[in-house]
Amino acid sequence: MKYLIVLMAAVQLAYSQTEIIRTQGPTVSPAEFCQQCVEERNGVGHYENPDDCRSHFSCQRRDDGTVYANLMPCSPGTLFERSVATCVPCADATCDGCACPDPKCPPLTFVPESTTTEPMPPKGPQSCEGNDGWRNFEAEGSTNKFVREMTINQTLYQELVYCGPTDDWRFDVSPDVCACTTLPENAVLIIPFDAQPFKTYNNGDWVDAKDVGITAGRVGNAADMNGTQQIEIPRMDNTYWGTQVTLNIDFNADPNGNDVKRNVLSTGSCNIPPTIELNLREDNTLECKFRVIDVNGTETNIVETIPGIQRGSWNNAQVVFDGLSFRVYLNGQLQFTSVAVGTIPYTLAPLFLGRSLNCEVQEFVSNTRWYGQLDELQVYQVVLSDYDRCRVRNGGHNVIVENPDVAGCSQ
Ligand SMILES: *[C@@H]1O[C@H](CO)[C@@H](O)[C@H](O)[C@H]1NC(C)=O
Ligand SMILES: *[C@@H]1O[C@H](CO)[C@@H](O)[C@H](O)[C@H]1NC(C)=O
Ligand SMILES: *[C@@H]1O[C@H](CO)[C@@H](O)[C@H](O)[C@H]1NC(C)=O
Repeated sequence: MKYLIVLMAAVQLAYSQTEIIRTQGPTVSPAEFCQQCVEERNGVGHYENPDDCRSHFSCQRRDDGTVYANLMPCSPGTLFERSVATCVPCADATCDGCACPDPKCPPLTFVPESTTTEPMPPKGPQSCEGNDGWRNFEAEGSTNKFVREMTINQTLYQELVYCGPTDDWRFDVSPDVCACTTLPENAVLIIPFDAQPFKTYNNGDWVDAKDVGITAGRVGNAADMNGTQQIEIPRMDNTYWGTQVTLNIDFNADPNGNDVKRNVLSTGSCNIPPTIELNLREDNTLECKFRVIDVNGTETNIVETIPGIQRGSWNNAQVVFDGLSFRVYLNGQLQFTSVAVGTIPYTLAPLFLGRSLNCEVQEFVSNTRWYGQLDELQVYQVVLSDYDRCRVRNGGHNVIVENPDVAGCSQ
């Protein structure tokens, strides 16, 4: 029996955020494409990249009204799906609206680019039967590769297959999966505010925080604001929040700024009704406003207040939505549970921190922006357990995937 060893190189999924590799598709520029989307489709937000569904465009409008495009790569193992305006696991993607031929889902659609001299790792003990006729074995010593074998005309073909370029990819050897998967349930958004320019933790996405300062925070550093700045997270524009959300934010209000209601966080603006809104009112209550919509289009609006917020010290707020009700925790203590059946819909606005919902401005600055510090924004599209919420509150990042040990939390 002959042995033929074929080594396959991984398709390079990661590429520079700023360059656009144009192969086919429209002849308009990304900005022109965005302009059309904003005018003819659904306003600012996320749209497919017609050339490549491994990325998408965040189409935004400048203050002067012109539209511009940010090219946003999907995280490894995901592709952009325009029907839900977000990156979804590769296996679920159709790449609708993209001129690219097929979703590039390893291992089945991947094209060997080159052979390498990398030695074939030993096969692990577990194997499973792939639906493509190959028998797939764990590759010892690495989780994002596997070894597959097939006998064709008495020749045993053996290949080393890379699931993807990073450890986000895993080969799942269980018989019902027997395929490459990506790690589930990453945080949707983490901004630790530890270094400038502020970036998201998972994918380094840009955070618009013009003139926002940095100072010691509750965990590492924090964003420092004096009532004139705002923070915008464009990637969360037109995000489907769905039925499972856990949101974490730390805030410290400056005692000098207690004369007006100030916004901590909001998914809308003065023109766009938010779905999630946290405000610190002048009477030291935290106002929590939520909006959900059920299958029949009926809206439920929740307004609750939490009294006795201390200014000049750190507070941690956690919002949990499970499709049936909202729970809000302050410094780890449950404050209220409010019934709200449905989903949190999209809003055509980025996620704002510290921005006013007051359209009336004085000398170009509203007087209701955040005055103080904000820290540790984390959003998960799952209902985190009490243990996981504790770890988030105490500074753990990406608690599901990275499973960090965090002081003060016990299972
Ligand atoms: C196997 O060998 C036969 C006879 O030589 C040939 O006709 C056939 O195409 C081969 N099959 C494959 C998959 O190579
Ligand atoms: C607030 O901060 C900005 C940016 O650092 C600065 O230009 C402005 O003068 C500050 N305003 C006040 C009232 O301190
Ligand atoms: C939606 O409407 C249908 C038909 O009127 C009704 O039977 C159902 O209970 C409604 N669902 C909700 C969640 O209100």
